[in-house]
Amino acid sequence: MDEVIARVAQAIVAAERILLITGAGLSADSGLPTYRGLCGLYNGHTEEGIPIEAALSGSMLQRDPALCWKYLAQLGEACLGAEANAGHRAIAELQRLKPECWLLTQNIDGYHRSAGSPPERLIEIHGELAPLYCQSCGAVDADLVEHLNKPLPPRCQHCAGVLRPPVVLFEEMLPERALNTLYRELGKGFDVVISIGTSSSFPYIVEPVLRTRQAGGFTVEINPARTDLSERVDVHLQGRALDVLPKLLGHI
Ligand code: APR
Repeated sequence: MDEVIARVAQAIVAAERILLITGAGLSADSGLPTYRGLCGLYNGHTEEGIPIEAALSGSMLQRDPALCWKYLAQLGEACLGAEANAGHRAIAELQRLKPECWLLTQNIDGYHRSAGSPPERLIEIHGELAPLYCQSCGAVDADLVEHLNKPLPPRCQHCAGVLRPPVVLFEEMLPERALNTLYRELGKGFDVVISIGTSSSFPYIVEPVLRTRQAGGFTVEINPARTDLSERVDVHLQGRALDVLPKLLGHI
C-alpha cells in the first residue's frame, strides 16, 4: 500500500489542477452513519414502514412536514454530535498546498468548512444543513440546534411557515450555482481526481472521474470496499480515508 500511496503522492505533487470528491465514507470516520453499504441509513425502512428516501423527499416535506423533519432532525443531531476528522483536515491542508485543488462534496455535515477547506473552492452539491429558511416568507433562521429541541416541524417566527434546511432532498433539483461551478471547473480539466468515501451513486459524481481519465488525467479511489468505479480508475486505494489521507499528505 505504501508504494501505491507514494505513487499517488507523486501525481499530486506534479499536478496543477486537482479535484477531490468526497462522500459519507469520509465522515464515517467521525462516527456518522453512511447511507448505503454496511449499516447504511438507506438500507432499511423507517418505523413508519416507508423507505428513508421517501421520508427525506421534497414531496414528503410538503405533504407531511412533521414526518420529514423527524428524519431531518436525526441527520442534524448526528452531524451536530460529531466533528471533522483527520481526513477532513488532510484535505484542507492539501487545498492550502495546492491553490487549484477543488473539493466536490456530497456531504451536508459542514465538516469540510470546519476543517478549514476554503469555501471558494468547495462545491457542496447536496447543499448543507444550516442556516434554516422559511419556505413561505424566505426569512433565514440560523439556529438549527435550538429548533431541534422544540416540537417539529420548526416554524418561522415571522409567519409561522415551515422552516427547512438548504439541503437537496430526494426528488429535488441540485443547486444551480454548485452545478455551474462544477461544470465550469470541469471544463478547464483536472490533472488528478481523487474520489474518497463515496459509493459513486450519481452521474455527476462519476462523470468528473471518467472525463479526467479519458483526457489523460490520473484517477484515484479511496474506499475500503470496491465500487463500480474501482475498475475504472488508475488506482484503487483499498482503505479508510482516515488511514490513507494523512499518510498521503505525509508524502507531499
Ligand atoms: N473511508 C472511506 N470510505 C468509506 C469508509 C471510510 N472509513 N467507510 C465507508 N466507506 C465507503 C463505503 O464503502 C461506501 O462506498 O463510503 C461509501 C459511502 O457510500 P454512501 O453511503 O452511498 O454515501 P455517498 O456515496 O456519500 O452517498 C451519496 O447519496 O442519498 C444521497 O445525500 C446522500 O450524499 C449522499 C449521496
